[in-house]
Amino acid sequence: MNHILRIYDNVLELSASPENPTPLVKLNKVNPLPKVELYAKLEWYNPFGSVKDRPALAMLTEAEKNGLLSGKKIIEPTSGNTGIGLAAIANVKGYKIRVTVSSQIPEEKKTILRFLGAEVVEVADTLCPDPNSPTGAIGVAKSTTKLMPDKFYMPNQYENHANLLAHYTTTGPEIWKQTSGKVTHIVVGLGTCGTIGGIGRFLKEQNRKIKVIAVHPEENHHIPGVRSKKQLEVTKLYAPELYDQIKEVSDKEAYDMCNRLNKEESIIAGPSSGMVVAGAIKALSSEEGLAVLIFPDNIFKYTSYLAKPQQTNPAAEQIFTELTQLARNSYTTMNPDEAKTWMEKEKPLVIDVRSQEAYAQGHISGAKNIPLQELMHASLPEDREHPIMTVCQRGNSSIVGLLTLQAMGYKKVKSMNKGTLGWIEAGFPVEK
Ligand SMILES: Cc1ncc(COP(=O)(O)O)c(C=O)c1O
Repeated sequence: MNHILRIYDNVLELSASPENPTPLVKLNKVNPLPKVELYAKLEWYNPFGSVKDRPALAMLTEAEKNGLLSGKKIIEPTSGNTGIGLAAIANVKGYKIRVTVSSQIPEEKKTILRFLGAEVVEVADTLCPDPNSPTGAIGVAKSTTKLMPDKFYMPNQYENHANLLAHYTTTGPEIWKQTSGKVTHIVVGLGTCGTIGGIGRFLKEQNRKIKVIAVHPEENHHIPGVRSKKQLEVTKLYAPELYDQIKEVSDKEAYDMCNRLNKEESIIAGPSSGMVVAGAIKALSSEEGLAVLIFPDNIFKYTSYLAKPQQTNPAAEQIFTELTQLARNSYTTMNPDEAKTWMEKEKPLVIDVRSQEAYAQGHISGAKNIPLQELMHASLPEDREHPIMTVCQRGNSSIVGLLTLQAMGYKKVKSMNKGTLGWIEAGFPVEK
């Protein structure tokens, strides 16, 4: 194992530690606080892509040490990340794993879990599993273990002290070392509360003035991996006495900030990281110092969540409107009288891009009818220098025809302004 050259004998040696910390990156553009520097700790640099690789390794190492795993299959309820960490580590160590998940978690997480070889049992549950539901992810995993104790071992991240200890022995010491003890605040989202508990306890032992800020989402939220106030009340590792402030963040605030992190900082953070930044800004407006924010995972596992509100794709529509406006210039469009002169001189192929019915009611003599949607597959001149004029009813679709032909490589394309109706108004003949 060599952390300088980054050469390893197996992938587990990549696991984060004070000698091999995940990166701390300063937030430069989204931080409006005058007296607090914000540093993001990018937990997707863990070997299997999230903060949960740390407790996954700690829980399995502890279970192995205590002889709890031999001959057993691992079973764990998860909102995705713990399951991914456990499944990858189980593969290295030679164990089988079943994960129970809420059907509401992103498809990407289910797919990755299956791809890693985990048996995925989907159940009806809240996004973050509800510990009080006997048919939810936690309930099903618990009853499976109870009914078949010799066949299954459940690490149970929600109650397992090794979850918290993983952060007490790695994440906390990393932050202390990376900031040379200058850290004044840590800001952490609440899920099982292992991350905040482990880091918070370690750092307060180094300097009791360090403040621990907890951030949680609103009720009925859509931020995978974290828990609302009500969901937290039933979480065993939840320890509000340790937190100096607790802030709530709405879905909108979290997703807006996630968007800004990706677009402005080029930090490819996921939704719960957006939530943490939004919470930090609320909590630290009158504070001073250096705050470390835990960014649990990156955006890649949430693309299906992002696609939903954008189905109409307004950006593409706007770009298209801009393009057609730009194409309507004096080099590429002509009024009917100019067009007539150009046609007599250059003998272009005249393409009428209207429907067959509109064409049949009257078209410029010699014009070939190729409706717009057929243009890309029509038989057209081989020679890309061949002059072409596009015509329609009023001079709008012909611009789209012009753009299409230009995209196909035709260099001498003109679109006729005002269309066939303008041609008739100018006193020129049409045929039927
Ligand atoms: C994306 C994401 N954010 C935040 C957390 C919260 O971490 P913890 O469970 O240690 O409270 C998790 C935990 O599953 C997570 O998956």
